[in-house]
Amino acid sequence: MSAVGTTGGEPAIRTDGLSKAFGSQRAVDGIDLVVPRGAVFGFLGPNGSGKTTTIRMLLGLVSATAGTIRVLGEPMPSRTRTVLPRVGALVEGPAFYPFLSGRANLTRLDAADRCSSGRTRAARVDAALERVGLTAAAGKRVHAYSLGMKQRLGIANALLRPRELLVLDEPTNGLDPQGTREVRALVRSLADEGATVFVSSHLLSEIEQVCSHAGVMSAGRLVAQGTLKELRRAGRPRVVVRTPDVAAARTVLAALGLELLEETREQAASALLADGTAPEDVTSALVAAGARVRGLAVEGSTLEERFVELTGEGFDVAR
Ligand SMILES: Nc1ncnc2c1ncn2[C@@H]1O[C@H](COP(=O)(O)OP(=O)(O)O)[C@@H](O)[C@H]1O
Ligand SMILES: [Mg+2]
Repeated sequence: MSAVGTTGGEPAIRTDGLSKAFGSQRAVDGIDLVVPRGAVFGFLGPNGSGKTTTIRMLLGLVSATAGTIRVLGEPMPSRTRTVLPRVGALVEGPAFYPFLSGRANLTRLDAADRCSSGRTRAARVDAALERVGLTAAAGKRVHAYSLGMKQRLGIANALLRPRELLVLDEPTNGLDPQGTREVRALVRSLADEGATVFVSSHLLSEIEQVCSHAGVMSAGRLVAQGTLKELRRAGRPRVVVRTPDVAAARTVLAALGLELLEETREQAASALLADGTAPEDVTSALVAAGARVRGLAVEGSTLEERFVELTGEGFDVAR
């Protein structure tokens, strides 16, 4: 384990070898997460890859089978009582009383928080409702809320007090495109105010735009993490050939031993560029085979392609 410096210099979240087994299944398998302070960290992975289990361990809601956790510089779960008041969390929708209004539910939840002041409660509840766009529906029973409204009420609950760290598990789940945009804007504004945001999603497209960092889960393992820039750079480059002779070009690329990619563009053929294959070799092979070349480019992979490479699964682009 590495030595840590001052508390302020420590990451917002750090785990070493964090694992959780359910019977013989390793739901989370030895992950070393590092979430820098001030980051908007996208915790990505297909359904069942271990995101919620990890988040539950971070918050002390379930015990780890192995490994260590530090949240805001403190060991968890031993320091749960001092750490959790500094953390706002939304995990798989909190339980609300269906026959109470959104405002009444938040008021109850706030009153249950031993660190919150009763004097400022009403104002804070209203500010949190306003923040997530539920002011007009604040007096309605939660029973009548849509899934998206319940999700936003859950986020409002996480925002009742200023927090250093927000942990949001799939906050865009069940939201329509407008609701998703609103959550994204909310995440961005929270980050602008200096909070670290740890947000999970199985939908890359929904959070890619707001994240500074990401970690990718696949079958319980953290297969990559870093800044978005680093993650994109780590992808394998590909060669894209613009040509009217697509079939011939694909034959040539395959004959060079390159892995062909599904092509979505017209009059183009592309393949992953292998180590030791120079673009000029590709050009001369194409010309020798009589495939006419309009253009040839080497492109970095998109984040989407990178994730498919890492997880072996596509992320849903749309619902
Ligand atoms: N309480 C539990 N008991 C048994 N298996 C569980 C439990 N919670 C989660 N799992 C299993 O652990 C794996 C990871 O689940 P989860 O952390 O919910 O993934 P994600 O949030 O990425 O969809 C899944 O295979 C799931 O079925
Ligand atoms: Mg989950």
